[in-house]
Amino acid sequence: MHLNSAVAAALLATGAQAHGFHGNPHGFAGQNHIPGGHIPGGPGPAGSSPSSASVSYTVPEKLPTFTPTTVKAEFLEQFDEAWDSRWKASHAKKDTAGSEEEWAYVGEWAVEEPYVYNGQVGDSYLVAKNAAAHHAISAKFPKKIDPKDKTLVVQYEVKLQKGLECGGAYMKLLRDTKALHQEEFSNASPYVIMFGPDKCGHTNKVHFIFNHKNPKTGKYEEKHLSAPPQASIDKISHLYTLIVQPNNTFTIQKDGETVREGSLLEQFSPAVNPEKEIDDPKDTKPEDWVDEARIPDPEAKKPEDWDEDAPFEIVDEEATIPEDWLEDEPTTVADPEAQKPEDWDDGEDGDWVAPVVPNPKCADVSGCGTWTKPLKSNPDYKGPWSAPYIDNPAYKGVWAPRKIANPEYFEDLTPANFEPIGAIGFELWTMQADVSFDNIYIGHSIDDAKKLADETFFVKFPVEKALEQAEKPKESEKPKSPSDLKFLDDPVTYVKEKLDLFLTIAANNPIEAIKFVPEVPTAVVGLLVTIVALIGTLTSGGSAPAPVKKAATDAKEKAKDAKDKAAEAVATGAENVKGEANKRATRSSS
Ligand SMILES: *[C@@H]1O[C@H](CO)[C@@H](O)[C@H](O)[C@H]1NC(C)=O
Repeated sequence: MHLNSAVAAALLATGAQAHGFHGNPHGFAGQNHIPGGHIPGGPGPAGSSPSSASVSYTVPEKLPTFTPTTVKAEFLEQFDEAWDSRWKASHAKKDTAGSEEEWAYVGEWAVEEPYVYNGQVGDSYLVAKNAAAHHAISAKFPKKIDPKDKTLVVQYEVKLQKGLECGGAYMKLLRDTKALHQEEFSNASPYVIMFGPDKCGHTNKVHFIFNHKNPKTGKYEEKHLSAPPQASIDKISHLYTLIVQPNNTFTIQKDGETVREGSLLEQFSPAVNPEKEIDDPKDTKPEDWVDEARIPDPEAKKPEDWDEDAPFEIVDEEATIPEDWLEDEPTTVADPEAQKPEDWDDGEDGDWVAPVVPNPKCADVSGCGTWTKPLKSNPDYKGPWSAPYIDNPAYKGVWAPRKIANPEYFEDLTPANFEPIGAIGFELWTMQADVSFDNIYIGHSIDDAKKLADETFFVKFPVEKALEQAEKPKESEKPKSPSDLKFLDDPVTYVKEKLDLFLTIAANNPIEAIKFVPEVPTAVVGLLVTIVALIGTLTSGGSAPAPVKKAATDAKEKAKDAKDKAAEAVATGAENVKGEANKRATRSSS
């Protein structure tokens, strides 16, 4: 790989912030009640909350076995053998209107049991199989789901078998249209709700976006939940639940705990309902509007005794010559140690004169030569006079345009009456393969969704947690995620992994990649640039990594010189990536 040191420098700088990468590592964060009283292998009495990371789980002797649920719902999916009669992958081209490049949904899907921390024997997930690929798959509902005047419950499990550095794991509930061609499902397919994890670099969200139809124009607009909660990006299963009530309140739960709640009318951006009144665009500030609150007092006059010409400093007449001052000694003398060079030719070179040096006799006294009285600050100094400021009697206040009724105004008091939903789809780009989904519930019963979770998620969660904990020591020996790497442990791997991550993110979402460039002390960047340059040499020359350590020390000295260059290089790297932004399509139209 060719290392562009500018990009690499920008990227390496992120090492300083590597901790920012992960979401909440604890599946169970708060003290809330966990549904599903009995947790096999779990600690404490039935129903108690395994609320902190210090809770330890025991791997049961025999793993629980999957049994299909008896819970019924408008749509319920456990990925049994008949799954492919319902789900169809799309190989459409991604809609990249206005872009030169084309994306196709080449990512493959499989239904299989997890290979990481498998908590239930015989439990299959839907798995997006390919790294750095666009995936799309959808399933039509047997009957359209109409959320009008009903509670809507959307619930599913996400298991990130390879973690997630950059990629989506959200679902889309697709608008019920007359002809929903599953093989053409793409980012352009209209959706009603988008819900679930999305992670890239420092961004980590559980999205909740809904499309709202403007009753005046008939146009749809996406409403995004502001300050969305964070997704868990470890490798065990996590349960995401969205509940929307007919009174427009919503609740988002992760692993059965509420992580966000509010109202569709309040927590979304842009707001469902526009402002009643807006600034009148025709109103302009009058020419004679006075918006200076304070002015120089026009009545004020310079006082008679104000001498603008009095100097800032005057001679200190009281000063006396220091006792040790040597008035008769010159300040410089001919260097007594200098000698006429042997090859000096008075005829050609002129008369030789010894060079002049400071008089050594003056070194330890106050001074030599003529003494003059020093200056001191002038107590009569006033400087130029200016009038004091007073409140402006003509001040009219800050000007604002007058308000008029908003011609676009409407009021929808029931945004929770979403349009009918005809299908569910996953339309994702992911850098990590094996993003997996299970136990999807879409319906109207909070209790049924809970019952399903009790039979499935809350059975395997403690097992997966135990399997994860049993493996923990091994993992800490050798970090697998680039964000876990520490620079000094292994500089070569660190640089390579970080660069790979940066380039992959940049290819998918350049804006996000730019956010990877934090403001770190430039000296650090300077150090890293030097090392990147060196590693560039190493990887092409194929020599041993031993000199790297020495270089790291040497580079500290060079860092100062390198820092200006580094700052320049970072700026250029970001510019390059920004340029890419215009060429490349991003991963979701949302
Ligand atoms: C909305 O409805 C739910 C379910 O009936 C209820 O629990 C909640 O208190 C209501 N919220 C408001 C603000 O009316």
